Amino acid sequence: MLNIALPKGRLGEKVYNMFEKAGYECPSIKETNRKLIFENEEKGIRFFWVKPSDVSIYVERGAADIGVAGKDILLEYKPNIYELLDLNIGKCNMCVAAKKEFRDENIKVLKVATKFTEIASDYYSKIGRDIDIIKLNGSIELAPILGLSDVIVDIVETGTTLKENDLEVKTKIVPISARLISNKASFKFKGEEIEKIRNAMKEQVLYND
Ligand code: PRP
Repeated sequence: MLNIALPKGRLGEKVYNMFEKAGYECPSIKETNRKLIFENEEKGIRFFWVKPSDVSIYVERGAADIGVAGKDILLEYKPNIYELLDLNIGKCNMCVAAKKEFRDENIKVLKVATKFTEIASDYYSKIGRDIDIIKLNGSIELAPILGLSDVIVDIVETGTTLKENDLEVKTKIVPISARLISNKASFKFKGEEIEKIRNAMKEQVLYND
């Protein structure tokens, strides 16, 4: 059995559809919305739904052989896994955003609110800017509005959340998309099956283009 961790939610549904079209279907997965594990014995696969930010933990520790995680999670947690394929879905950008009128005069330490503290620290250390990181868990856009921070580092997809809160993108840090990832030992011992899946998924990526 090959264990596959899927990110629960809208992205996960798209990902499952790619697996299905690639020949790794598991029809029962569409019948219920509380069950977490689904098997297709004939194909030798078992899917399970995992919180998107936890997929890389399951894969790194080998509870899943492969999985699908956002590049944001891979950059933030730097799990010890192989990145096999860019699935070209779940596309968005990791950005610095702030109030329209905000200009960084580079005089005092910059207050940065974010869920992605590693990505933010890496980015600002690369450009040599001193920052004070404020770790939040959601509704990041509130921080600059209420004066909790000068800027935010967050995911921007359509830009609607920023727009509706009178904020704007100041810098695009890195493009993000969903990646097929593999546990390192699994890739060694179940390499043939994993390669087969990677190739079948690659065809789906090209087909989607
Ligand atoms: C993300 C992100 C932004 C929003 C961007 O939040 O943190 O708030 O999506 O999308 P948009 O550009 O299309 O408006 P998410 O929905 O993941 O919830 P969160 O508040 O838990 O971060």
